[in-house]
Amino acid sequence: MSRLWGGRFEGGPADALAALSASVHFDMRLVPYDIAASRAHARVLRRAELLTEDELRQIIDALADLEVAVAAGEFTATIADEDVHTALERGLVERLGALGGKLRAGRSRNDQIATDLRLYVRDHARGLAADLLDLCDALTEQAEQHLTTPAPGMTHTQHGQPITFGHQLLAHVQGFLRDLDRLSDWDDRTSVSPLGSGALAGSSLELDPVAVAKELGFASAAANSVDAVSDRDFAAELLFVTAMIGIHLSRLAEEIILWTTTEFGWVELDDAFATGSSIMPQKKNSDIAELARGKSGRLIGNLTGLLATLKALPFSYNRDLQEDKEPVFDSLDNLTLVLPAMTGMIATMTVRAAVLAAAAPLGFSLATEIADWLVRKGVPFRDAHEITGAVVQYCGKEGVDLHEVPDEALAAISPHLDPTVRSVLTVEGALAGRTTPGSTGPGPVADQLAQVKKTLSGW
Ligand code: ARG
Repeated sequence: MSRLWGGRFEGGPADALAALSASVHFDMRLVPYDIAASRAHARVLRRAELLTEDELRQIIDALADLEVAVAAGEFTATIADEDVHTALERGLVERLGALGGKLRAGRSRNDQIATDLRLYVRDHARGLAADLLDLCDALTEQAEQHLTTPAPGMTHTQHGQPITFGHQLLAHVQGFLRDLDRLSDWDDRTSVSPLGSGALAGSSLELDPVAVAKELGFASAAANSVDAVSDRDFAAELLFVTAMIGIHLSRLAEEIILWTTTEFGWVELDDAFATGSSIMPQKKNSDIAELARGKSGRLIGNLTGLLATLKALPFSYNRDLQEDKEPVFDSLDNLTLVLPAMTGMIATMTVRAAVLAAAAPLGFSLATEIADWLVRKGVPFRDAHEITGAVVQYCGKEGVDLHEVPDEALAAISPHLDPTVRSVLTVEGALAGRTTPGSTGPGPVADQLAQVKKTLSGW
């Protein structure tokens, strides 16, 4: 029998309880982290002279053997094991007999699980950051290719003002850079070891939580044992960061979906990163972008689900907390699938620069240039806006573009207008005029690119 709590019970648990209680089907992925924590704990027990040198060596060897056995599929947990901690204690006792039961001294599954999960998420968040960096690199490389390619800049999905396509792509990078920042300061807050907190009150044995924390790569040991076993802020915060990444991915994905439509035609996906239809032979679909957009929903769900579990949960440990792991694993697993696919899709897509450039001045997107031209002549912007609106109205009625409005029509609309206004009605001029930091002009966009590359190489 592997149960860790049988002593005061007359019979075994009902099948329905065992089935409900078991977490081995998802928590066995914590094995390497549980074993690392066990190793650190064994060393501390040795220092407290609760183990002999020989016992320590036997335990360390058995843990190594057990880790290999799990990885090789030779040791598997059963539903009777309940959770990863119980399964591994069984494995230890199978190898060492009574000695295997010594390791539990001074610790509880409550501080163990909190420790294991922190170790797991810190480790996997590093992989997530690496995947995010790859996506940023792909976006940045495409941005560099199209740094000065004119493109329609949209608000309300309507043509607003011309920008460069590189500027648009770098805008997406900015969001992902903030996500990388979030992961980094989340990691600082997560770098706290709960081990030594026991069930909730700490330990009467001569343990050394600080040494354990250090061995496990944590910056410090928990300041409060009750908090240590109750706190899942780190999991909720990670789920926020992963949901935010999902939302950023969904916004990028939505644009890719629009850009690849027949109506836009701005971008064509590489065959390796697009899908077809079982009935419509001509189809080339952006399923990667759609899955990224779709999966952002479950990432949000995982966050709100865990927040709901934590709400009003009394201190300290409650079994409700077992519900923390699946959403965390699910969000990390799904981003591990989505990010490389999005990166490949972005890196290999073909941007149709000529289509973008032709679309840039459409929808009277240079109207703001007229208003700004009037402002430079001393006309209050309020009036300039009205005058320009009248020009646009004229164009709509007559079916002409802004630069095609005849001299007499300009003069009739306002005495402030004259034919020299046409000099500002080019996309190139509109872009070149935007010289302030953060603008879409060639200078500031080049500065931005340099800054982004510097930031990326610093990660
Ligand atoms: N499996 C539990 C969890 O995931 C840890 C065990 C704590 N169980 C307990 N009865 N105190 O949170």
